[in-house]
Amino acid sequence: MNQHITLNNGMSIPALGFGVFQSAPEETTAAVEQALNAGYRHIDTAAGYGNEREVGEAIRRSGIERNDIVIETKVWVSDYGYDETLHAFEKSATKLGVAQIDLLILHQPMPQHFERTVQAYRALEQLLTDGRVRAIGVSNFMPNHLAALREQTEVVPAVNQVELHPYFTQPNVQRANAEHGILTQAWSPIGGITFYPGWGDDTRRSMLDDETIGRIAEAHGKTPAQVMLRWHIQEGRSAIPKSTNPERITQNIDVFDFELATDELSDIDALDRGVRGGPDPDEVDPSTWDLTIPEA
Ligand code: A2P
Repeated sequence: MNQHITLNNGMSIPALGFGVFQSAPEETTAAVEQALNAGYRHIDTAAGYGNEREVGEAIRRSGIERNDIVIETKVWVSDYGYDETLHAFEKSATKLGVAQIDLLILHQPMPQHFERTVQAYRALEQLLTDGRVRAIGVSNFMPNHLAALREQTEVVPAVNQVELHPYFTQPNVQRANAEHGILTQAWSPIGGITFYPGWGDDTRRSMLDDETIGRIAEAHGKTPAQVMLRWHIQEGRSAIPKSTNPERITQNIDVFDFELATDELSDIDALDRGVRGGPDPDEVDPSTWDLTIPEA
């Protein structure tokens, strides 16, 4: 049974969701269907992943009540600005095939064009007022970006989704989130970013092979991925592991029948190397990737 977390606006989401970053569109429908069958009720996608349509298709095929599923998606930076972001909502909602998006967040802070980021967030606030979305938030916001946003906007983000796995725990970001009452959501929660092909250099080591995590996994008769997911949940974070493999999809939600001890949690905390695997949030702008979001 999944646990739930209450957001700062009273909305409840499952602690463990399902991610589709880097899931090819042709694999996404099957993966999301599998995830819904396995019991996941929170799907995290993004306009920038190019697979919202396939997520929507899987949700429809599942036959599960729309209200029982939390759909989270993200506005890409090329759609920042007030009117542009209102339109980005229409594009995403149409591709997903839904009238309302549960959680709509800004994908990046875009510090070089922060005014456009603020305008984008104001559009999210409007969508919230209009009932088109149930909650709004941000992703990859560092404490200074959060502080700047809070000075210029009204609604406290419900979530801040950031790179977070045992090798990169961002304690300063977790602290800032907590101070604002924002839920920390972990992307790449089992450290996929530490072994994804095409990212980083040869010095990267997969966290799935980490000795400490392996030892703890063995002690509980669980896998390293399950130990990392359990660590997130016990520390109060939302986590959204990605997989397109049916067995691993099922394995990743099977984390509610064991408990890590306090010293095991702190042993995992101590693995932090302070080195991010993904892009530096201070450097992302529309020219970072050649990515524009097609019309629905
Ligand atoms: P696959 O889709 O083939 O299962 P993250 O969400 O932390 O970025 O991790 C995603 C990566 O981890 C993907 O490469 C995924 O591959 C792999 N993965 C997902 N679940 C597991 C698991 N339980 N054990 C090992 N690898 C996993």
